[in-house]
Amino acid sequence: GASTVYQAEDATLSQASVATNHTGYTGTGFVDYVNTAGGYVQWTVTAASAGPATLTFRYANGTTADRPTDITVNGTSAGSTSFPATANWDTWADASVSATLNAGANTIRATATTATGGPNVDKLTV
Ligand code: GCU
Ligand code: CA
Repeated sequence: GASTVYQAEDATLSQASVATNHTGYTGTGFVDYVNTAGGYVQWTVTAASAGPATLTFRYANGTTADRPTDITVNGTSAGSTSFPATANWDTWADASVSATLNAGANTIRATATTATGGPNVDKLTV
C-alpha cells in the first residue's frame, strides 16, 4: 500500500534532540543523537495489516565513519542498520531495513551502538 512518513522530530527521543542547524531536512527539523552509544529515536508506526514492511530512514552523516544503529520492532531485534557517510551534514541518504509489523500500532526504535552516536535522522518512511 501507500507509504507513510513519520518525522523524526515528532518521535520519542533519548540522548538525542531536535535540531535545524543543517539544510535539506523535511518537516520542521531533524534529530541529532548525542555522541554516545545508547541514544535512540522511537516511532509509533501504524500498519493496516500484519506482515513484512520496509523501514526507510532518511539520514545524514557528515563524518567518514559509519554510524550504525540497532533496530527493534515491538522490542524484538530487526537487525543493525548501517548509516554510512553522506559527504556532509547537508547531504541526506536513505537506509532501509526489512521488518515484520503487527496490525495496528508498532514501536520502532533505532538505538545508536557506537560511541559516536547515530546519524542525523530526518524521517522514517514505512
Ligand atoms: C556536528 C553536526 C551535528 C552532528 C554532530 C555529530 O556537530 O553539526 O549535526 O549531529 O556533528 O557528530 O553527531
Ligand atoms: Ca549527533
